[in-house]
Amino acid sequence: MNHSGGPLWHARAWRRQGAWGGTCNHIRQWLEQIQPTSRQLVIIGASAGWMMPSPWLQRFDKVTTFDIDRWAAPLFRWRHGPALKRSGTQLHCGTVDALAELQALLAAHADAAVLFDNVLGQLRFMHVSLDQTASCLDMIKRHLVGREWGSLHDAYSGAVRHTGRVLERVVTFQSLKQDGAVQMVSGDAGVPIDPGLAPFASQLEAEGEWLDHLTSEVFPAGTTVHHIAWHYSRHYCHWLQAGWVKSKSRAGRQ
Ligand SMILES: C[S@@+](CC[C@H](N)C(=O)[O-])C[C@H]1O[C@@H](n2cnc3c(N)ncnc32)[C@H](O)[C@@H]1O
Repeated sequence: MNHSGGPLWHARAWRRQGAWGGTCNHIRQWLEQIQPTSRQLVIIGASAGWMMPSPWLQRFDKVTTFDIDRWAAPLFRWRHGPALKRSGTQLHCGTVDALAELQALLAAHADAAVLFDNVLGQLRFMHVSLDQTASCLDMIKRHLVGREWGSLHDAYSGAVRHTGRVLERVVTFQSLKQDGAVQMVSGDAGVPIDPGLAPFASQLEAEGEWLDHLTSEVFPAGTTVHHIAWHYSRHYCHWLQAGWVKSKSRAGRQ
């Protein structure tokens, strides 16, 4: 069963394009400030690229997308194909379990930067135990060592107060990933948070207990992490985190 893709996801993403516009703008701003060294990009969990701006993809010579959802490839081509044709960017869309095949995919695209596009936060629903989720994330991180890569993923999600106020603005925040485990505390709003992120959590008008998507250790220490609110529906909000990790060779030159 696909917990995060498929026809229901496409229908919701299509219907809520307007409502998600603010979040998509923040994702675009985050992407625009990244200057990838690679001329090729692999996107894992690309879906139809509902929240992905075509202009950012146009900077690459080649974009390869992977998703387990069979509707993702034709819809991604439909949404982004014409723009990529105009920029002369090659586009290849594959249907595959890209996490199970990660090692082979990375070897086949050795010169590509890799973007996990809102998929790593869903791993906890795809494994029977939290330990299995943690070891899957560990495995992914091991395979990425030395590679230029990034991820946009759920950190937390949960109910928001229905005042309507919070929906009028999209909250963002930036932090630096520290070494070691993040100390989790319960904020005023009941959200489990790093104390440094408390202002962001309270601006979300969070209510009740939020779900931890187990992604707090995805980025290596020193990564700049962007926190972006995503009002998935009027009552439910996702706290997205986005970060980009430079390849070893580039980091070494700076
Ligand atoms: C929240 S959606 C991604 C949204 C997408 N980035 C967009 O902008 O529309 C998560 C996607 O990850 C895909 N996915 C989940 N597990 C996967 C796996 N093991 N390999 C490839 N894709 C996967 C799902 O099919 C789904 O399309």
